[in-house]
This record gives sequence, C-alpha cells and structure tokens, in this order.
Amino acid sequence: MSGSFDTLYRQSIADREGFWGKAAEAIDWHRKWDRVLDDSNPPFYRWFAGAELNTAHNCLDRHVAAGRGDQVAVIHDSPVTQTIARITYREMTDRVARFAGALAKLGVTKGDRVIIYMPMVPEALVAMLACARLGAIHSVVFGGFAAKELATRVDDCKPKVIVSASCGIEVSRVVPYKPLLDAAIEMAAHKPAHCVILQRPMEQARLISGRDLEWSEAEAGVVPHPCVPVAATDPLYILYTSGTTGQPKGVVRDNGGHAVALNWTMRHIYDMQPGEVYWSASDVGWVVGHSYIVYAPLLHGSTTIVYEGKPVGTPDAGAFWRVIAEHKVRVLFTAPTAFRAIKRDDPNGEHIGKYDISSLRALFLAGERSDPATLEWAEAKLKVPVIDHWWQTETGWAIAANCLGIEKLPVKHGSPTRAAPGWDVQVLGDDGHPAKPGEIGNIVCKLPLPPGAFPTLWNAEERYRKSYMTTFPGYYQTADAGFLDEDGYVYIMARTDDIINVAGHRLSTGGMEEVLASHPDVAECAVIGAHDELKGQVPLGFLVLKAGVDKPAEKVVAEVVQLVRDKIGPVAAFKSATVVARLPKTRSGKILRGTMQKIADGKEYNMPATIDDPAILGEIEGALRGIGFARKE
Ligand code: COA
Ligand code: AMP
Repeated sequence: MSGSFDTLYRQSIADREGFWGKAAEAIDWHRKWDRVLDDSNPPFYRWFAGAELNTAHNCLDRHVAAGRGDQVAVIHDSPVTQTIARITYREMTDRVARFAGALAKLGVTKGDRVIIYMPMVPEALVAMLACARLGAIHSVVFGGFAAKELATRVDDCKPKVIVSASCGIEVSRVVPYKPLLDAAIEMAAHKPAHCVILQRPMEQARLISGRDLEWSEAEAGVVPHPCVPVAATDPLYILYTSGTTGQPKGVVRDNGGHAVALNWTMRHIYDMQPGEVYWSASDVGWVVGHSYIVYAPLLHGSTTIVYEGKPVGTPDAGAFWRVIAEHKVRVLFTAPTAFRAIKRDDPNGEHIGKYDISSLRALFLAGERSDPATLEWAEAKLKVPVIDHWWQTETGWAIAANCLGIEKLPVKHGSPTRAAPGWDVQVLGDDGHPAKPGEIGNIVCKLPLPPGAFPTLWNAEERYRKSYMTTFPGYYQTADAGFLDEDGYVYIMARTDDIINVAGHRLSTGGMEEVLASHPDVAECAVIGAHDELKGQVPLGFLVLKAGVDKPAEKVVAEVVQLVRDKIGPVAAFKSATVVARLPKTRSGKILRGTMQKIADGKEYNMPATIDDPAILGEIEGALRGIGFARKE
C-alpha cells in the first residue's frame, strides 16, 4: 500500500467534490445533493447542499434493514453499578423510535432544541438519536458542569425539553443531577416546557409536577416515531465549548457532511470493519464522545461501548484491560491523561498480564499533547500501534492522524503524523507569511474545511467569522501553535489563546478569572495553566485582595475554590490559588501570564523587556513555592 496515503491525500485536496461525493455513496439519502460543495458564500461553506437524509436512520434503521438487527450496537459497561448491558441494533432502533415518539408528544419537532444532561448510560445515546430521528437539535452538556454553566447553555439554545437523570456515579460517589438541573432552570431566563428524568435506582429525583416526567411516563402509550428527513445542511447538534470568555461557543454540526465524514473515518483512520468493537473511553458530553461513542461507530455498523467508569479506581488500574478482554475491543481511543493515571498506579503494567487483550489492534490518543514517556509506555506494554491524533470540538474529527486504514506511516513521537485527507494544514507567522519547515507559527487550515467540520456557531455567525476566519483570510485559525517538519508531520506545541487542557478537557482561564473577580474580596486576579503530572495542566489562580480586607488569605482561597466549583463545576479541577500583593504587568498594563506560567512550572524565563516592575516576579515565585509550585526539577 506504499504511497497510497499520498495519492488519497492529494485527491482529497485537488478534487474535494469528487473525493467526498464518492465517500457519500456509503450513506442513505432521501434526496441526492444539488452540489457536493456549495462555496457561494465563504467562509460559510455548505456540504451536500440540496440533499436530504436522516442521521438516526443511517445509524440504526439502515443496519437493521441490511441484516445487522441482531448485532450488538451498544454495550453499556458500568463498573460503578456492576452491570453490563448489550443492546442490539434492532432494540436500539426500537428504543430510539419510542423515545422520539415521547419527545414528539411533548411538542418537539424539527429544528427544536433539546438539552441532554446525562451520565454515561445508554439512554443518553437514545435521547441523542431520538432528537436526530425527529430532526430536532440536541445539545449535550457534560455532567461535571455546574448549574450556572448549564443555565448559560439553556439561555443560549433555548431548549423545548431537557432530558436528564436522577444521578451520575463518580467511582462510588452518587452525584445527584436533579438539584443542579432545577437550579439551572431557576437561574435561566428561558424555561423549557418539560424535563424528562431517568430515575436510577441509586437516587430518586423529586419531580416538579406539570413540568417534569419520568422517562417511563414520557414513553407511556406513545407511537414509535418514523425518521424525519432533514436537509444535509440542517444542524444535528450544538456542542458548547470553552471560548475566551465565560460565554461558551455553540459549535454547530450539520447532518450530511457529518455522516459522510464520520463514516469515512471509521475505515480509513481507525481501520475498522462493520461488526467489530470500537471503544472510545470518553464521555458523551465531549466531542470525542459525540463522534466516537455515538455517531461514527453506529454510522459504520460497529459495536460501541458506553463505559461508566474510570481508568483507575473502578476497581483498579486493570479496568481498561478488563473491558478490552471482555468485549473483544479492536480499537481503543482515549486521552493520554487516562494512560498517565494507569501508569502511575501500575508502572510495570502488571494488570495487563491478567487479561487477554489480543483483540486490540491499535490505541488512539487525542485531546491533549501525548507526552513521549506515556506513549512509549503504552507501546511497550500493549504491543500495538499507539497513534496520537489531533483534533478539536470545532473540527469534529481528526485534522492530523496516522490513517491506519489507508497506510500506516512511520510514527514520530511528539507528532500526530500528517494532515488527514480533506485537511490542508499550513503554518503561518503572525504577519501571515508561510512558515518554513520547523518554524513555529499559527496552525491554520485552508478553507473550505472538509465535511464534518463546524459550518457555523449557534446564533453567532459574526463570532464564527471573527474568532476563526478573520485573522488569516481564507484560512481557519485553529488557535494551536506548532510547526510542520520536512516530511509534513504536524507538531502541536501550545494554544495561542487562554484555553488550557485539564485531563483532556478544554477549559477557559478567562472564564475562571470572571468567577474569581466576582468574589467580593478580590480586586484583581489571573488564572494560568500549570503543569501537572497526571492531568497535563491544572488551573492556578492569583488573587490580589481589595484594600482593607482582613480575612486570612487561606479563607479567601478556600472560598474562591468553592466558587469555581459552584459556578463552573468540579470538571474545572480548580484547587490551587495564592494571594499576592500585586500581579506582574507590562508597562501598558497587560498581565504577564506566560511568565507566571513558566515560574509556576519551575522553568527558565527571560525577563520581559516591557515589564513594569521586575521585583514582582520574585514575589510571585515566593508565593508559588508556598503552595508547592515553582520548584526546579
Ligand atoms: N459528573 C460529575 N462530576 C464529574 C464528572 C461527571 N460526569 N466527571 C468528572 N467529574 C468530577 C470528578 O469526580 C472530579 O471531582 P473531584 O474534584 O471531587 O475529585 C472532578 O470532576 C475532576 O474530574 P477529572 O479531571 O476527570 O478528574 P478525576 O480525578 O475524576 O479523573 C482521570 C482523572 C485522568 C482518570 C479522568 O479525567 C479521565 O479518565 N480522563 C480521560 C478520558 C477523558 O474523559 N477524556 C476527555 C476527552 S477524550
Ligand atoms: P477540544 O476542543 O476539547 O477537543 O480541545 C481541542 C484542543 O486540544 C486542541 O486545540 C489542542 O490544543 C488540544 N489537542 C487535542 N488533541 C491534541 C493532540 N493530539 N496533540 C496536542 N494537542 C491536542
């Protein structure tokens, strides 16, 4: 197959319409497209304009019709409840059609929004696919977000119905969801007409009469709903992701391009055949969960695993190997942080030997930079290719990857390999000049982006244009900095904005600063991402108190830690802050966050030429040492 990657890649860029038009033949359409790519209104490109399809039909019904009805579609493996459930394509189709009927009875129709705030249970997938079946637009909110974050999303996308559950389970801790949901609706200006609540045995949620229904009650007496054809360009979902402020960006995914691209990736990137078992150990609340727990495996006719557990602690560092052995997983996809957790608890990989993991053909990592030590450990212990691939909520699938289903290219540690077909990745200097190989700059993708990438932001076309398409006209600005080497391998070095990556989760330090600044004793603040052995980065806060505040510093710190947990959620993992007399700034008043980050990580730094008062850096270092940071290796 030597050279086949180059050939396919070149085709994908030189003849986009031919390439994706061919890939689209694998999808069932109610109506064929007028044009594969409508490029009449850049930067708003539209794939498969004029076509109609239904994504749920393509994920479920068509596989039943093709004889896969008895194949397992979804395995729910839940060490936290000690249950394993297997749902066939036929059962899943029936459950989705029934729940679509329930939503329709509550008034949900094509184009309406439905928020899904659920733990890792199959009903989360049922709810997502039921929306798709109706042509309604789902917006899944990760369970680790607090009520205020949920309220922000409620007000932005104005759901007619919210689907939730009585609780999630974090290892052994039952996390009630309903009080958070009630608080969010209380806070939001927009009120959903109904909430459908899945009552789980560990926690009985109190329902608000007239508004809330139990799942079973919502389904009582309903007629299964048929698939509603939608335009290929209609939104399938909105997924909020961190922006530079507390107002998240509503990334929109369409139906047609998404189905074509995701189905294509299963064979070409992950080398999966229909009928095999694919496991993405993520959460349905993240883009990885949308694309690779739900849509891609089901579009492709694979079996997908919904895992309600952790890499360690449920019950031990052998958790992943048990799942692989038990369900004969062919491909595992997770974040490097999960492997760091396993390696920390089981450095010699002793648990691996207890299981037969011979079904595993490849491990794919994404969500954050793969540190070479973790990658090498995984390669040595698993003895399968370990493939780092790079992507973003906005792109929906890998921008750069080693496409195992086309041709395995040599692995270079530290690089997610080359731009995947469809992605014209380039590096530009701040002034827009093309960077030379090895020269670090802004990583951009030449427009149009391939199908599956976000066509816009929900109700925020101008923000879409400004945030992504304006700095380098004709290109999508990824907000990642890095370089390409002589062989075209991509290297991702850092974000160019204030986004940090905590345990593979994308968080905005700007959003956290807004929370800290809302504390009555805080005059000024800054949040940076400090290096963390397990999570990659953790947020770290600096607080300057208002004059006259005589509360002990530890008390203010404890209060702001709680405030971030209450307003953003436990997922922010905001546990460390320090009170300082003043923040280091440039003469024009810009806070020197980058320098503070270097100090926190114990790295060498150059004194910024524009610094107003160099003495402050010593004060910062002293404060950081007091809380266990700024230690030199
Ligand atoms: N509902 C409620 N709370 C949640 C939650 C959910 N769905 N998910 C996480 N939380 C809580 C955790 O319990 C934790 O709370 P704590 O502060 O009381 O301990 C907090 O949010 C932080 O969670 P996390 O950063 O995930 O840390 P962790 O210690 O629970 O687990 C890892 C660390 C590395 C094991 C875990 O993050 C992991 O498995 N990550 C890899 C897979 C992944 O999800 N990648 C994302 C995209 S690919
Ligand atoms: P998210 O939108 O949550 O998927 O986060 C996307 C960001 O995570 C990217 O912009 C990168 O900064 C980072 N990221 C994702 N995958 C990788 C990877 N393989 N290598 C380095 N960084 C990555």
